[in-house]
Amino acid sequence: MTDRALIDAAFAARERAYAPYSRFKVGAALLAADGRVFTGCNVENAGLTATSCAERTALFKAVSEGATAFTAIAVVGSMAGEQNTLVTSPCGVCRQALFEFTGPALRVIMAKSGDDYLVKTLGELLPLGFGPNNLA
Ligand code: THU
Repeated sequence: MTDRALIDAAFAARERAYAPYSRFKVGAALLAADGRVFTGCNVENAGLTATSCAERTALFKAVSEGATAFTAIAVVGSMAGEQNTLVTSPCGVCRQALFEFTGPALRVIMAKSGDDYLVKTLGELLPLGFGPNNLA
């Protein structure tokens, strides 16, 4: 799976974003170690705190389908009808949710387009992350 293919899957997922309140549409594509790709979009809610980000939608879909090891996630976001000007980086809650399963190694691909993107590890985005090892 190329970065480009994962980014394309994130853009396709973004089309299904339910974002009537912010109008900021986000798509994510999470690559499992077994090769499966799980996509997600943000799903907003009139009671705003019930909103799910695209990354957690993808993660929870994956875990509920039996995938718990992941190597990369692509994230794309922009206002409805507009092109990205900034990369969309996962929010703090999503960083923590992903860290649970991947630790610092996950590659986080933050894309403006299929050939304009930034890659960081989750460890760079969430230094000294708190995870399962802390409770062992
Ligand atoms: N959002 C995501 O889905 N992922 C991110 O990485 C950043 C923010 C969503 C949440 C909300 O629906 C909208 O974008 C504006 O914050």
